Amino acid sequence: MSPGLLRRLERQDPTVREPSPLTEPALVKPDAARGDAGQRVEQDRPKTVEGIIRHVQGRVLTDCPALLTSARHSQKDRQTLKAFIARLLVEENLVVRKLTRDALSEQVVCEVVGYGPIDTYIRDPTVDEVMVNGPGRVYVERKGRLERVEAAFRDDEHLLDLITRVVAPLGRRLDQASPFVDARLPDGSRVNAIIAPLSLVGPVLTIRKFPERTMTLGDLMVLGALGPAMAGFLEAAVRARLNVIISGGAGAGKTTLLNALAGAIAGPSERIITIEDSAELRLPQEHVVSLESRPANTEGRGEVSIRQLLRNALRMRPDRLIIGECRGGEAFELLQAMNSGHSGSFSTVHANSAADALARIENMVLMAGEELPHAAIVDQVRSAVDLVVHLERYADGGRRVSHVGVVDKEPGGSTGRDRVTLKTIFRFAVQGVTAEGAVDGHFEGCPAEPPPWLLARFRAAGEQPPRFEADGGPVVEAEVEGG
Ligand SMILES: Nc1ncnc2c1ncn2[C@@H]1O[C@H](COP(=O)(O)OP(=O)(O)O)[C@@H](O)[C@H]1O
Ligand SMILES: [Mg+2]
Repeated sequence: MSPGLLRRLERQDPTVREPSPLTEPALVKPDAARGDAGQRVEQDRPKTVEGIIRHVQGRVLTDCPALLTSARHSQKDRQTLKAFIARLLVEENLVVRKLTRDALSEQVVCEVVGYGPIDTYIRDPTVDEVMVNGPGRVYVERKGRLERVEAAFRDDEHLLDLITRVVAPLGRRLDQASPFVDARLPDGSRVNAIIAPLSLVGPVLTIRKFPERTMTLGDLMVLGALGPAMAGFLEAAVRARLNVIISGGAGAGKTTLLNALAGAIAGPSERIITIEDSAELRLPQEHVVSLESRPANTEGRGEVSIRQLLRNALRMRPDRLIIGECRGGEAFELLQAMNSGHSGSFSTVHANSAADALARIENMVLMAGEELPHAAIVDQVRSAVDLVVHLERYADGGRRVSHVGVVDKEPGGSTGRDRVTLKTIFRFAVQGVTAEGAVDGHFEGCPAEPPPWLLARFRAAGEQPPRFEADGGPVVEAEVEGG
């Protein structure tokens, strides 16, 4: 092939010259010194897919290195790269049996700038998560359900190559010394990789894709994750600046609900600061400051914890603090903030039940090294936390709010001073499972008087207080946007 292939390609597509924001301006680096590939002797010609990929990769690297980065993000550049590769395959007569040229160039593009064998699933908008358990087993999650898919990597090496290619641009590496990595890709997706000796099944790669749009309370209602009265109540609670803890297990939908609740915060009059280990929240408001913690580097230095960020955020004049997940000493600062002028703050806690979430917060504060007596911690939790919203992931893959509990504010309430207790005001009642495997149930309000402090807070904020009816449920008249 003549070295001018890319240039000829460019002449046909004048838009190629226009540098995309992610491309370095110089697209072509013609190398006159390179030998004429047309004279390549027959036996040198790669005949396996791997060989062709290696060869093409080398050519892309010399002819149009900028495309290697830009084609990852830009659909147009990906097309340009594919056209370049397709021509290269023709000009150098590179073929493999059983694959059309188009399929081959697509596969090469996937390997060179995409996610190799799992590229289709990464690009498939119906797939939320891709899990690779060693080279031979790939699973995807669609609509909450796991399924195994055909894709496979050739061997550990092939999978490791992909992992390296994904994490290297993030300044992370994976080797014997640090055999796992958890990071966020530029598009917001989360990637986790773990290799031997920690993984016994070969390299394991988990990619949780960043949703194209985040779910609102209305979307969650349509999905059946909460009922209308519940959603209306939560929305009013956000406006009334209640402090909310969202609890649940991994993947129960905590972050999704946190994002939806935060979406109910009123416009630009409130300064929102979000703090996360791995930035997942995407708020519709414009006045949002997003902070992300930083793990230690390979020398073990430079760590910035959620707790440090939270301490700093308190000096940034926040109206609302949103902590992606509370899992350590930051619980101490979170309670302080909730108790002192930053009401209307939210966080999530990994817990098996709403009551467990409160117990965990107590424990986290105990471990925070502030030497507070237990009774003082209990008092702090009781006055700081107003609502606990617990999520569960059910057998049918659906994530639902299983409980909404209101904290008993009276010290020495139903069970004495040494524990913080909750009153359930909404729950999801399971009736059974249908023949198709769907969980059958409904959301209901629970027969309990709303505590006077809750009514007072709602009234003070001009919110309609939940109305409790004889047959049980609190009925909230507030409308949920988009519901
Ligand atoms: N109500 C829901 N129904 C179906 N899928 C959901 C629901 N809530 C969240 N998801 C999906 O479940 C996955 C995990 O949600 P996430 O909020 O990140 O969970 P957590 O923060 O509890 O680990 C995401 O892919 C998300 O899109
Ligand atoms: Mg989460």
